[in-house]
Amino acid sequence: MNGPAPVTEAVAAFFRIKITAGCEGADALESALALLEQARPGSAPEPSRLPALRYWEEALTIADESAPASLMAALRQAAPGFHWRQNPNYLTTLDQDYLSGYAFTEFVGEVAPLAHEGLRIGLLLIGPDRHYPEHNHPAEEIYLPLTPASWWRAGEDWRDLDGGHVIHHAPWRVHATKTGGGPLLALYAWLGEVARNAELTVA
Ligand SMILES: [Fe+2]
Repeated sequence: MNGPAPVTEAVAAFFRIKITAGCEGADALESALALLEQARPGSAPEPSRLPALRYWEEALTIADESAPASLMAALRQAAPGFHWRQNPNYLTTLDQDYLSGYAFTEFVGEVAPLAHEGLRIGLLLIGPDRHYPEHNHPAEEIYLPLTPASWWRAGEDWRDLDGGHVIHHAPWRVHATKTGGGPLLALYAWLGEVARNAELTVA
């Protein structure tokens, strides 16, 4: 494999748009792009699906309203090859209703086309009417939601945000997300201690 796949290039281009606009977490996104250039071929996982993918088409349709057409076209083109999975820490801590509507795939990560010890870049899908409870992780995180959802982080109130916002979480900062009537589709980047998965901070 020579360099990132077209979908990863499209994600990087979206990062650059947000950096140029002076988004929250722009410095971290710059760092993510620099690390992406150092990524090497990863585990090349086989395509896999999960029940949450029943929300995929709806999520894309909502994301079309705010995300760049070039990004959406790249996601649609690459989607048949995505390896969807779940954080193993959540298989015993989140209920079946949540798990049936939750999946992520990664472009850079432990199970992804590209690998880097200090970087993960992926796409999160959460079905409608779900609550991703308070959790944290040692990695620094930038979320780039493509659809509306409610977002919370320690020290602040819940915020209803449309697609197109950028949300930065410092290492270990506790955060949570709720979806409303539609699914959430969100790009994310993790930097730093990325090998340690997120864990819930509430029982
Ligand atoms: Fe997070």
